[in-house]
Amino acid sequence: MTDPKTLASRFPGDFTFGVATASFQIEGATKEGGRKPSIWDAFSNMPGRVFGRHNGDVACDHYHRLEQDLDLIKEMGVSSYRFSIAWPRIIPEGVGWVNEKGLDFYDRLLDGCKARGIKTFATLYHWDLPLALLGDGGWTARSTAYAFQRYAKVVMARLGDRLDAVATFNEPWCSVWLGHLYGVHAPGERNMEAALHAMHYTNLAHGLGVEAIRDVSPNVPVGLVLNAHSVIAGSESTEDKAATERAFDFHNGSFFGPVFKGEYPASLLDALGDRMPEVEEGDLAAISQKLDWWGLNYYTPMRVLADASEEAEFPATKPAPFVGETVTDIGWEIWSAAMKSLVMDLYDRYDLPEMYVTENGACYNMGVGADGEVDDQPRLDYYADHLSVCADLVSEGYPLRGYFAWSLMDNFEWAEGYRMRFGLVHVDYETQERTVKKSGKWYRDLALNFPHGNHKTA
Ligand code: FCB
Repeated sequence: MTDPKTLASRFPGDFTFGVATASFQIEGATKEGGRKPSIWDAFSNMPGRVFGRHNGDVACDHYHRLEQDLDLIKEMGVSSYRFSIAWPRIIPEGVGWVNEKGLDFYDRLLDGCKARGIKTFATLYHWDLPLALLGDGGWTARSTAYAFQRYAKVVMARLGDRLDAVATFNEPWCSVWLGHLYGVHAPGERNMEAALHAMHYTNLAHGLGVEAIRDVSPNVPVGLVLNAHSVIAGSESTEDKAATERAFDFHNGSFFGPVFKGEYPASLLDALGDRMPEVEEGDLAAISQKLDWWGLNYYTPMRVLADASEEAEFPATKPAPFVGETVTDIGWEIWSAAMKSLVMDLYDRYDLPEMYVTENGACYNMGVGADGEVDDQPRLDYYADHLSVCADLVSEGYPLRGYFAWSLMDNFEWAEGYRMRFGLVHVDYETQERTVKKSGKWYRDLALNFPHGNHKTA
């Protein structure tokens, strides 16, 4: 099963294999080229927020090593690169002046990809909100949605001609719930009201962003990347099954509902509607414009039990024990079957366009051995297992068009800092040396055998 040639042969000739990164996680140079701080600079510089008080100041130094990193992507044999654009490089204060130097950096990135024959999949928002916008409330303020719309326009006007696809947001679940309810991500808020405001204004920003993108660059396919949760009941009891449905509405329905159905889930409105901001006339129409594609980020399932305690807030669930026998180094259960059932369930419930797996991968922290190799067999196994599920989905007719491995290289893993490694390529943060891991060589073989060799495509 782990033979890359055999696996590659199960994908159609026009399938896309890619690698993914995000600006704050790799770029560094946080104070250069006119960039101003983002909420992640502030959050990571506050003691007690990020492991080891790590921050993004240097990261993978990608800002200074752009050309060599693009060569690395080329060496990985992939046809596409998914990256994100840092809003604080483009409009450093969120609103107001546009920083040409910031646009120049992504200009070089796009030209470098084109010169190497690599397709470009940009994400406009992968969590680095310009810090200045926090003065108005950040994502809890409606004005931030309009600021995002302008940012989207500015980016598309300068870069749209070389983008093969664009996503408005990466994983609003994280920036909304992890950032405003659970306090794990920037801005570190723990408040349901704040979170519900962030939810609606992020959704609105997505809708306004789609309008802006279509206005400026009507030919660039526009999508949204969601970390849909495969919510699984921890038992067969009626209570736990009901809890699972509530969890689905809360974790998935809060984004899939407005975007793909034009409505928030009834259970969410019943339980929390009075704490939501006003949904103004036209908001849901803007949010639910048809998309060209959507992206799934999948790592692990979410197992839930009902939480009957009085203080439990909607969706009133607690975690159920894992079923899979193995977890990755970050503690996430490995369960590839949930990736398949999740996709099937989502296409049942919503009218979804074609899709990409925009992130999938595993955290293992092994370093470079005495022989100069990184032996990360468990990551290779994880990829093989989940790619096999993707091949099944394709053969069953689901419109899955491509797959992006998370990540090209080890990087700043948010609240976990640099201690958690997801790369196909190892990064030595002292020397910035890159070493392709065993899994990276395997993925390269897969991507190179594709579409050549096993497929008749020219
Ligand atoms: C996802 C994020 C990505 C990365 C992976 C491990 O939630 O989109 O930036 O941190 O998890």
